[in-house]
Amino acid sequence: MSDVNIITIDGPSGTGKGTVCGYLTKLLNWHFLDSGALYRVLAYAAETLGVNYENEVELVKLVKRLNIEFKLLNPESVVDVFLDGKNVTNKIRTETCGKAASLIAPKASIRKALLVLQRGFLKKPGLIADGRDMGTVVFPGAQLKIYLTASIEVRAKRRFKQLKDAGFSVNLRRLHAEIAERDERDSTRNISPLKPAKDAFIIDTSLLDIKAVEEEIKKLVFSRFTNLQNKGG
Ligand code: DC
Repeated sequence: MSDVNIITIDGPSGTGKGTVCGYLTKLLNWHFLDSGALYRVLAYAAETLGVNYENEVELVKLVKRLNIEFKLLNPESVVDVFLDGKNVTNKIRTETCGKAASLIAPKASIRKALLVLQRGFLKKPGLIADGRDMGTVVFPGAQLKIYLTASIEVRAKRRFKQLKDAGFSVNLRRLHAEIAERDERDSTRNISPLKPAKDAFIIDTSLLDIKAVEEEIKKLVFSRFTNLQNKGG
């Protein structure tokens, strides 16, 4: 087990992972890894540079050149993503980019290259890692693993609101179908499929508002990391 504190938050899209991770990052003042953003940025960079998604050799070379940073610009929102110093958050948050990320994600050489990049985010005092395989593959020794889930109807509505609030034009039925397709691809692929780690706490957020989810997770954090009790309240 790593001597750096790690909390993994895994689960499909629309379960509240991004919001919860933003909340924990602020609460604990730890480092943050949005692994989905790495897959999205890779898809975005490939598209921009005209690299075919099937060209694994070029995609792996691209991974090695990616210069990605996460910054919490607005304390009330989720973390912004920077590629080579440029804010690409809105470019990578589209469902089209999510689909492209999910299409390149099953490739073994790409996951291997991204594994190195992801583990590079591990720094003291701790890391909050958001993704699909954080607790199962990337950080199997994490001290606290959480898996968020919710019904597809609820998740599609949440994503719809999120995308609409961010200024994107979206159609709920299409979004529902796209999320279902992405869930299927992410959870049935051979390598690192989306699934809870055996030792993960599973929280169904379908009927919970985000404050209730945050409260539940806060309790888990302070009972697991007892040395943080005084700081976190
Ligand atoms: O979390 P997200 O919606 O930003 O992720 C986009 C896609 O990236 C997701 O559909 C599958 C892939 N992904 C992955 O395979 N493994 C991860 N740890 C994170 C994301």
